[in-house]
Amino acid sequence: MPLTVLVGTQWGDEGKGRAVDVLSADAGMVVRCQGGTNAGHTVIAGETILKLRLIPSSILRPAVPVIGDGVVIDPEVLLGEIDALSAQGIHCDRLLVSGNAHLIMPYHRVFDRVIERHLGRAQLGTTRKGIGPAYADKAARIGLRVQDLLDMKIFGQKLEVNLKEKNAVLAKVYNQLPLDAKKIIAEYEGYAERLAPYIADTSLAISRALQGGLHVLLEGAQGTLLDIDHGTYPFVTSSQPIAAGILAGAGVGPCAVDRVVGATKAHCTRVGTGPFPTEIEGDIADRLRGVRGELGAEFGTVTGRQRRMGWLDGVLLRYATRLNSLSDVFLSKFDKLSGVGQLKIATAYRYEGEVYDEFPPHQTIFHKCEPIYEELEGWEEDISGARAFADLPAAAQRYVRRVEEIADVPVTWISVGPEREQLVSTATVSV
Ligand code: IMP
Repeated sequence: MPLTVLVGTQWGDEGKGRAVDVLSADAGMVVRCQGGTNAGHTVIAGETILKLRLIPSSILRPAVPVIGDGVVIDPEVLLGEIDALSAQGIHCDRLLVSGNAHLIMPYHRVFDRVIERHLGRAQLGTTRKGIGPAYADKAARIGLRVQDLLDMKIFGQKLEVNLKEKNAVLAKVYNQLPLDAKKIIAEYEGYAERLAPYIADTSLAISRALQGGLHVLLEGAQGTLLDIDHGTYPFVTSSQPIAAGILAGAGVGPCAVDRVVGATKAHCTRVGTGPFPTEIEGDIADRLRGVRGELGAEFGTVTGRQRRMGWLDGVLLRYATRLNSLSDVFLSKFDKLSGVGQLKIATAYRYEGEVYDEFPPHQTIFHKCEPIYEELEGWEEDISGARAFADLPAAAQRYVRRVEEIADVPVTWISVGPEREQLVSTATVSV
């Protein structure tokens, strides 16, 4: 009963959609476990390009797609995604949606917008999809769950209680018009009818799949540094994208895990505000980012925002190994480093004369530190045609080996382009 967890090791956008597509080739079930429509996972298979928000990135594979307990679901987006896929001939009939997952309500999206505006210069740069407010209601135990759609009477009662308080705050604090309960109920009644066939006990389904010997892949969203406990708080998301949070969101215990794969971009990126020690600007950043609209260009899948660029941060990679108990790294966008010239990896930080080779214990240090870089020789060759480790130029091989040393786990997959076959798997290479 192999269970694989896929986790992002940076600030999201590490190519997890691509990694899931690869890792799910033999999977019987793939589960989205936390986060919501803030995620944007891209999958490319030949002519088919999918930009997925809630549906697991394995949807082109035979695996049963599952949306687990820890996800916050915007039903309008989910149904829109199911319809858009169906229009492309990709059907989600076997999709299972946890009844315990929380619903994103219209007021969550409104609050996400007005709170950000209220924060002004201190704003987090959220995706404005209502993620934080939905998780806040979940923690406050006033959230509406997917299973509430199965009893619209209860749904209506819970909504009334919620709206009374939400509308008062919206009007008095944020100067917003109140939301109408009847309108929301009518809207969600429509969603209820369409979502009902998918609603299931997903933790039980996962357990049965594992007992039946199927390979189950847990697809993390966002990344380690966006974790609400262990990330760069408050510039984080409101769920737990680390492996333990992924397991909790799926409803699976830690002893079931065989492998924890850390999706890691060969350079680092970040969207939204918050500290980013290895951030770079200028020609190299522009080159790494690519041009808006190009395949693989570094602009947000969900928001279209330009991503901030940086060198690989080895301190954070080591931190991700520790927090997630990584067993492997899936290195993505490696081809983007070709022709960049001399490359850099941060191995420590300096702040007020002190050197920190672990994630600093205080936020001020992380905000103000200078990275200490190790320089690595670059390579000029186009590596997008590499299919074996030996096909890579010597300098590229050394970069991978250095990443392995820093992460202290093997780099088992190297993506050298967006297409499915543009992959080097070092699993069979003796080092
Ligand atoms: P929220 O998750 O929409 O509340 O946004 C909080 C922070 O997490 C912002 O900086 C977002 O840009 C970032 N974030 C959320 N989801 C993703 C993601 O899937 N990829 C990259 N950044 C994300």
